[in-house]
Amino acid sequence: MTSLLHLDSSARRRSFSREVGDAFAAAWREANPGGHYVHRDLAAEPVPFIGEAWTELCDHILANGITEIGRYKEAVRTPAQAEAWAVVEPLLDELVAADVVLIAAPMYNFTVPASLKAWIDQVTFPRMSLAGRRFVIVSARGGSYAPGAPREPYDHQERYLRDFFAGHFGVQDVAAVAAELVNSRLDPALAALRASHEASYAGALRAARELGAAY
Ligand SMILES: Cc1cc2nc3c(=O)[nH]c(=O)nc-3n(C[C@H](O)[C@H](O)[C@H](O)COP(=O)(O)O)c2cc1C
Repeated sequence: MTSLLHLDSSARRRSFSREVGDAFAAAWREANPGGHYVHRDLAAEPVPFIGEAWTELCDHILANGITEIGRYKEAVRTPAQAEAWAVVEPLLDELVAADVVLIAAPMYNFTVPASLKAWIDQVTFPRMSLAGRRFVIVSARGGSYAPGAPREPYDHQERYLRDFFAGHFGVQDVAAVAAELVNSRLDPALAALRASHEASYAGALRAARELGAAY
């Protein structure tokens, strides 16, 4: 049975990354009627930042050459570490069980929201492999970071996620869809770009539906 883990991270309830992510998820669920679907809203129910006990778990895993995710809990040796592991374990179980991981992320200050980064920090351990899984990044940005745009070099959101999934998780199968120029709806200085935004948003919804139906 195939399974989809869908993460949201926008602080807004009505949000472009949520809309586009929902389009992917709806199409995926229609295409995979027996599939297992898990949705986690990291903004509505934030995971805590890692603390010192988490770093002790991580250090033990690294120092003892533990690479199998199923063996991580061997690192728990104190009550504080058990408390830290109790946060990690359900998040990691959800991630490992997923064949497809859908990450809906707004761009905040050129990068991902702290709510998403907190989740990444919780579930990531040394030399951890998630190879074989498919990741989908759905993003929304106030400006444009498309190839050739003046702001392209400042994209530390989609580029960071792609680099991290490939470089740390060993996941090469990463698809990305972006709704750009969202601020043209609000910012009078960007009003001339409204049509480009509408086209980008419509294209992102279409691409998300097509991807969801194909996965
Ligand atoms: C805290 C915050 C920081 C933002 N930083 C950026 C930014 O660095 N670059 C950008 O293009 N847009 C930025 N924006 C605009 C958002 O990316 C845009 O509103 C986007 O639609 C948010 O996604 P959402 O609709 O899913 O919430 C920021 C918005 C907020 C609330």
